[in-house]
Amino acid sequence: MKKILFVASEGVPFIKTGGLADVVGSLPKCIDSRYFDVRVILPKYKCMKPAMQEKLQYVTHFQMDYNWGSAYVGVFEAVEDGIHYYFIDNEEYFSGPKPYTDDPRYEIERYAYFSRAALSILPAIDFKPDVIHCHDWQTGLIPVYVKEVFNGNEFYQGIKTVFTIHNLKFQGRWCIDQVKGIVGLPDQFYTSDKLEAYGDVNLLKGGLVYADAITTVSDTYAEEIKTAFFGEGLDGLLCARSGDLRGIVNGIDYTDFNPETDPHIVKQYDASNFRKEKIKNKRALQAELGLKQDDKKMMIGLVSRLTDQKGLDLIAYVMDELCQDDIQLVVLGTGEERYENMFRHFAWKYGDKVSANIFYSDALSHKIYAACDAFLMPSLFEPCGLSQLMSLRYGTLPIVRETGGLKDTVQPYNVYEGTGTGFSFANYNAHEMLHTIRFAEEVYYKKKREWNKIVDRAMAADFSWSVSAKKYQEMYDWLIG
Ligand code: GLC
Repeated sequence: MKKILFVASEGVPFIKTGGLADVVGSLPKCIDSRYFDVRVILPKYKCMKPAMQEKLQYVTHFQMDYNWGSAYVGVFEAVEDGIHYYFIDNEEYFSGPKPYTDDPRYEIERYAYFSRAALSILPAIDFKPDVIHCHDWQTGLIPVYVKEVFNGNEFYQGIKTVFTIHNLKFQGRWCIDQVKGIVGLPDQFYTSDKLEAYGDVNLLKGGLVYADAITTVSDTYAEEIKTAFFGEGLDGLLCARSGDLRGIVNGIDYTDFNPETDPHIVKQYDASNFRKEKIKNKRALQAELGLKQDDKKMMIGLVSRLTDQKGLDLIAYVMDELCQDDIQLVVLGTGEERYENMFRHFAWKYGDKVSANIFYSDALSHKIYAACDAFLMPSLFEPCGLSQLMSLRYGTLPIVRETGGLKDTVQPYNVYEGTGTGFSFANYNAHEMLHTIRFAEEVYYKKKREWNKIVDRAMAADFSWSVSAKKYQEMYDWLIG
């Protein structure tokens, strides 16, 4: 049995702020358990839902050498769908009201502690991984520690590391002098061939320099990040490591996201009966959100973190124009205040057309995927994107910008060939987006049979983990040798 350890800062069903949690929660279950024993380490956040908190069992605790002294490390465990999860407990670091804080220096301290603790608990839980699979900057120090700090201890020798980039924009960087003690490495590590970048210490860079293999969550993003525009200052390093860098597109949990069995939606449906049944979800959502009751109105959904990455400035720019069209727009998410307020404003201005739900709700997101006709995702960059995959699964046609995973997973409708699963545009331009939305409106209103055929193809597309999980397995096999 090969042993794989995932380490991440969030994972469904315990704690989620974004797509990272979906991947960490769903991929381990899809790795073939006949050959691989996959376990997961997460922080034990106090803000975890009480129902989840209750599942955690105390395992052990000890003092870990840390920061010229020592720090408490508690270990809790839970088993969910056959996967063992371990939680690092330290109230000093993980008892805030949200998983992350707004203090970049403190974030480095919290996750440097977490990375060291994750490695330190392994003998105590008697799990020596063949491969440690690290996710995003919060775990960037793990490959460094495995090779340079823990290598003196026989237990850690021979462990391979994989680093997966879910988002290159977040790097965990701060000025060297202020975090040196916390990171706990001697001076020679803060050089441009190791952890230093542009004068700062950069934890993501540490991961990228030291990991045995690097992956990111789509083929297109794997190419894009080797260029200056998408590379966030690390394109040179990624080019240098391109031999060890590959794209593996994310899947989604096909059990959680299944219109045939979804308990959150009013009317379940499948590929054979969506023409009659899907509409019942639209009626219910119009009623629930106080939108005009009208079967025929094209309803567009947007479920997203409300941040720059998601292309919301394009929407803000043409929102008034878009609202002149015969559509309804349903928004769900939280994020930057200017976008939250922008959507609130338009919901006030066009009350029967726009519904702004500025909060996070798993149940409402499912209702939106099921009820809407189309789903808008005009991202500036998108490592993979998961909500377009959820939309495809629910026969809700994605309207996306051709970047990263959006380009790899949504095939644009081609009128002449009768192919495609959604709509897309190339340039980061508000009117190009608007024209594409209007093209979708035209197909929806004037060529309903064509629209429904696109839905047929969307629902037939397979973005379960089956293909991608095999690619990870092959990579683990190759690393273990
Ligand atoms: C990040 C990315 C998103 C990706 C997700 C999971 O949230 O922004 O594109 O799908 O991670 O990999």
